[in-house]
Amino acid sequence: MNGEIQTREAAWHLLTEFTQSESLRKHALAVEACMRACSKKFADGSPDAEELWGIVGLIHDFDYERWPTAEEHPYKGNEILKERGYSDEIRRAVMSHAEYSGVSRDTPMEKALFACDELAGFITAVALIKPGKSLAEVDAKSVRKRMKDKAFARKVNRDDIIQGAAELGVDLDEHIAFCIEAMKAIAKELGLDGSAARPVSAPIGLS
Ligand SMILES: [Fe+2]
Repeated sequence: MNGEIQTREAAWHLLTEFTQSESLRKHALAVEACMRACSKKFADGSPDAEELWGIVGLIHDFDYERWPTAEEHPYKGNEILKERGYSDEIRRAVMSHAEYSGVSRDTPMEKALFACDELAGFITAVALIKPGKSLAEVDAKSVRKRMKDKAFARKVNRDDIIQGAAELGVDLDEHIAFCIEAMKAIAKELGLDGSAARPVSAPIGLS
């Protein structure tokens, strides 16, 4: 087993080798941030656990841009991870985040990945419709409200969000607030720090 390959840096290179989409890279970073935060709550709190959980979050969809169908994602990614020496623990977690893969979610890390994946996407969608396009404007209440709006962010499966928190054994509102906070720590990288909505400079004559 090549331990060196399982670093955050190598995982980032893997992600960016296969994923060019800015929004998919941001999704990976958002899930990484949530997973790192979760590791402190549900794992032993060690830096190694945080690195491991973070890597899983970062690469869970790395094959999606090239192989987006349910026939290939995350199976194709799983093969590549194996070729590159990623551990069974990481590969199993990545496989288990796809409901249809048939790989059960057994460990806290696997449960956390499922509980953070769709939710991170949904929190991002809620932030983007706020006037300042920032996470600072998002709270659990506004996320819950939007979850009831079927027309909003239709691709995000609400049942997965609800089921994910239940499997992890956490209150949904608490988990939403927890993930918002985790994402806020990297708001700038996610483009959700409010700067996207601010004009670079005020037009002449308007101040
Ligand atoms: Fe994802």
